[in-house]
Amino acid sequence: MTRATAVSGKELDRRLALAAAGGSPRTLARRRAEGRMSARERIEALCDPGTFTELDTLVRSRADGGGGSGGGAGAEAARPYGDGLVCGHGQIGGRPVCVFSQDVSVFGGSLGEAFGEKIIKVMELAMRVGCPIIGINDSGGARIQEGVTALARYAEYGRLNIQASGVIPQISMIMGSCAGGAAYSPALTDVTVMVDETSHMFVTGPDVVRSVTGEDVTLEELGGARHNAAAGTAHYVATDEADALDWVQCLLGFLPDNALSTPPSYPRSGGSGRSGRDDLTDADRALDRLVPDSAGGLLDVRKVLDVVLDDGDLLEFQELFAGNIVCGLGRVDGESVGVVANQSAVSAGVLDIDASEKAARFVRFCDAFNIPILTFVDVPGYLPGLDQERRGIIRRGAKLLFAYGEATVPMVTVVLRKAYGGGYAVMGSKHLGADINLAWPSAEIAVMGATGAVEVLHRRELRAAGTGPEADQLRARLTADYERTALSPYAAAERGFIDAVIQPCETRARIRAGLRSLRGKRSVQQVGKHNNMPL
Ligand code: HXC
Repeated sequence: MTRATAVSGKELDRRLALAAAGGSPRTLARRRAEGRMSARERIEALCDPGTFTELDTLVRSRADGGGGSGGGAGAEAARPYGDGLVCGHGQIGGRPVCVFSQDVSVFGGSLGEAFGEKIIKVMELAMRVGCPIIGINDSGGARIQEGVTALARYAEYGRLNIQASGVIPQISMIMGSCAGGAAYSPALTDVTVMVDETSHMFVTGPDVVRSVTGEDVTLEELGGARHNAAAGTAHYVATDEADALDWVQCLLGFLPDNALSTPPSYPRSGGSGRSGRDDLTDADRALDRLVPDSAGGLLDVRKVLDVVLDDGDLLEFQELFAGNIVCGLGRVDGESVGVVANQSAVSAGVLDIDASEKAARFVRFCDAFNIPILTFVDVPGYLPGLDQERRGIIRRGAKLLFAYGEATVPMVTVVLRKAYGGGYAVMGSKHLGADINLAWPSAEIAVMGATGAVEVLHRRELRAAGTGPEADQLRARLTADYERTALSPYAAAERGFIDAVIQPCETRARIRAGLRSLRGKRSVQQVGKHNNMPL
């Protein structure tokens, strides 16, 4: 290259054009035929138009490709410009973000030394600025040719994920087949989004599984979006890439830029904003008819959320995992809230291991990012039994207790129906630090339900009665007595554990008033290095 060529800018243009072309034309063509976007197109579609500024476009690997090629043409293909990663800063919804997007056409999107350094640099920028980082993953993991340097960068990148955890929102999009570190790093972040049928996540791909264990599995069986969603790894399964990008844009609208700021407010639609009966709508009144007459009847908590949340909108997390608890983000009065709600329509809303872990992680996420927590209780307690005990429900169920107990954001809890035993204590009770605790008249706050309680309290009497119609009558009478005297919200209300027993139709207004009064809540940081939650 002559000095004249360099000064004219032609050399810059040439290098930038090579970087923009990406890697393997074959891979790019195949992806396009499948209707999938390139690494740059994904970023352009994610960010507000014209706001993305790319950094480190001209970074190249110090390795020579191990004799391989990054997929592009010409002598420079062994060390392609950009090294397979597009990264930089932009805006989403007018707010700053940092983004990186892995280019599967260059060494399969794998992470080599330079690629890793670029991710680390853009993450450090996001932490300095205090803005969310969004990683678009499409990678075979550590670049095999670069050996230990790739592994070193992955570990450093993982360490940064950990340092950024709870400081800035970290969002991972899985947009292809992601193996090894390309699955583990997302697992360290706050939210993971997958695309149905076209994205996968696994520790190693099917070829490696076959060679190590002899198992013959497909990509979809091993790491498909639905399987990962059912395992709790993916928070959302998008129908296609555009849907995934749309969901992430929507998610960011609920989140603050960082842990020192608050989520954005939006103009609220509907209602006068005052609390009390004059604010009642037909939808509010419908809540008065929601609780079924029979104890085991279905109470679909989503119907409560439809009324309480602005426009009934809930951005649900992990919908396909532990459906007995609903977690998601919504707004009340235009302000972000995190909802945790027992869903009695699934497994009676019982707290099992999966539900406990799902809700615990969500509570901690909300607490880290200054999102008030709204809890709706209808829970028969922790799930008893051999299977759960053997799998560690004591340790794993304790996570939810821990998460609520350490949360310092505003917390409002409404007991709709059952709040039995540990379920009462753990689901945002006053005793764990909730600020406002409400109960419907249908609330059943007790150590256990009537059937179990009668068997324990009246065992001798019932045994003496034996079997037959008289024994049945005795059991029915004892059960009715227990339901009348012990299954109500009033013992808790008399002690101030419940601040108010409210008519269901008042729920929306009381929650709004409560959250408004809690806006100034501030927490005192705990002294010490960190707590030691049961992991
Ligand atoms: C270098 C890689 C690569 C890798 C894929 N490629 N993975 N190159 N290092 N890790 C290249 C392939 O050689 C191929 O190049 C191109 O990318 C596309 O790969 P295919 O296999 O043809 O694609 P596909 O059939 O879609 O399968 C995708 C895949 C598979 C399932 C991800 O490539 C695979 O199993 N890769 C290895 C995954 C893995 O085990 N990684 C190790 C991770 S260990 P050409 O030139 O033919 O187009 C790790 C540790 C991290 O990450 C530690 C964290 C703390």
